[in-house]
Amino acid sequence: MTPLFLLLSAVILSTILYSLLFKNQTNSTQPLPPGPKGWLILGNLPQLGTKPHQTLYNLSKVYGPLIYLRFGSVNVVVASSCNVAFQFLKTHDANFSNRPPNSGAEHIAYNYQDMVFAPYGSRWRAMRKMCTIHLFSAKALDDLWPIRQAEVMSMVKEVYLQGKKGKVVDVSHVINVCSMDALSKALVGWKVCGEAKEASEFKSMVVELMQLAGVFNVGDFVKGLAWIDPQGVVRKMKKLHKRFDKFFDSLIEARRTRNNKGEGRDLLSVLLNFQGEGSDFEEGKLTDINIKALMLNLFTAGTDTASSTVEWALAELICHPDILKKAQEELDSVVGRHQFVKEQDLQNLPLFQAIIKEVFRLHPATPLSIPRVAENECKINGYHVPKNATLLVNLWAISKDPAIWKNPMRFDPDRFLPGGSHAHAHVKGNNFELIPFGAGRRKCAGMRLGLRMVQIMTATLIHGFDWVLPDGQTHDKLDMEEAYGLSLQRAVPLVACPVPRLEPCAYEIAY
Ligand code: HEM
Repeated sequence: MTPLFLLLSAVILSTILYSLLFKNQTNSTQPLPPGPKGWLILGNLPQLGTKPHQTLYNLSKVYGPLIYLRFGSVNVVVASSCNVAFQFLKTHDANFSNRPPNSGAEHIAYNYQDMVFAPYGSRWRAMRKMCTIHLFSAKALDDLWPIRQAEVMSMVKEVYLQGKKGKVVDVSHVINVCSMDALSKALVGWKVCGEAKEASEFKSMVVELMQLAGVFNVGDFVKGLAWIDPQGVVRKMKKLHKRFDKFFDSLIEARRTRNNKGEGRDLLSVLLNFQGEGSDFEEGKLTDINIKALMLNLFTAGTDTASSTVEWALAELICHPDILKKAQEELDSVVGRHQFVKEQDLQNLPLFQAIIKEVFRLHPATPLSIPRVAENECKINGYHVPKNATLLVNLWAISKDPAIWKNPMRFDPDRFLPGGSHAHAHVKGNNFELIPFGAGRRKCAGMRLGLRMVQIMTATLIHGFDWVLPDGQTHDKLDMEEAYGLSLQRAVPLVACPVPRLEPCAYEIAY
């Protein structure tokens, strides 16, 4: 017997013992929620498939809206209906206000020093408050509007010039550059991805992060296998972390060298000034690590989510030319054809608002949200939820529940219009049948900014241009497959030819 064989046997044996010993370690008289039987050691992990949100949706049809699974030795509960989500994120919100331990938080997010994975407490609260004041409050958003508008106009210029040359536009790329540049000006005061090459490089880092964060890492659930890192996830995370870290070091360095203390209104200046004044950040000093971890959250959570939603919106509208035409007519009647749409116009566009809600319903940017963990055991729907159980809220399944949504797979914005079945629903976290930004105290911190970015980019792209699919492709044949990650990307990125549709004076900016 080789030493490797002996070692492996020891790991497997200890893992079996561990899972047997800790199996159903509950004194509760309540039953656990129903769910499929899992494998020995790995539990249900191998059953998740390549699109876990869809697998879990199919399981909810068999076992109901509250499912119990086991990932290795970890208890997992999945909420797949608005009623069950309400109980977790509203009734028992305080009990589920933390995130479970995971290798992404450890190896990428500076060992839980960020906001997304910070324990619920004073440091998390201080970070959220800082971001709310300087980025997400109504006042901050209004102050930052000129920045967003300038970047949206840069996007128009790029699309217009490419269209003029008869080129096919990589929609995902232009949207991504726009959201990244608008965000980066607000976060650090300048465009970190000024060049197309740098933008692609940064996007690839963000997409890799989202893909890695979406992987159910076996080592997180089967402790005995963590050291082997069977999927190579931790190795990739450490490598990616170094790239991000170098990037954020250079941003901080550049900001300190520019030495514009007090001048900058961007978040990085605010944080560095705060640090320079030696102010306390609730639990001690604000360190460079805290700043880098926060920047990492905002850059990654803020770009991919918004830009993938815009890409889905445009794809859905290309697939539904009749709805696109109506939305363009609405924009023309409110804004006219001599200028581009502005954020102030958005509230006067009920059909467009309904379209955006329908896109969030069909394509929630983070289909399984971000996991939470049960601080204490509790009872939901008469079932026992053990202490330390991981909670997955299947946002994708909730917004397709046939008990709530008629023809749930159909793109039908009318359901959100006056007289429609969901005329009063909105996406802000109170209507649990549609919670693309999550709900409760850990709901998306950047929701208002994300909404504004999604709306203005989509409105501009459909008001300013008609879109023709390349190579004689017809709209009914457009590939609408999803690729799974923490964020919901299109399996095949959208490419299309833009055809200007406003009066020539509107595009003068592009000359
Ligand atoms: C379409 C746009 C977006 C969508 C759909 C979205 C969705 C989400 C979801 C589902 C969560 C988890 C909520 C929960 O646990 O209940 C979340 C958390 C978060 N999001 Fe977003 N997001 C978007 C844009 C943004 C933007 C623009 C930013 C910042 C620039 C941002 C920053 C965050 C942060 C920091 C958290 C963690 C909050 C916490 O743990 O306290 N997001 N987001």
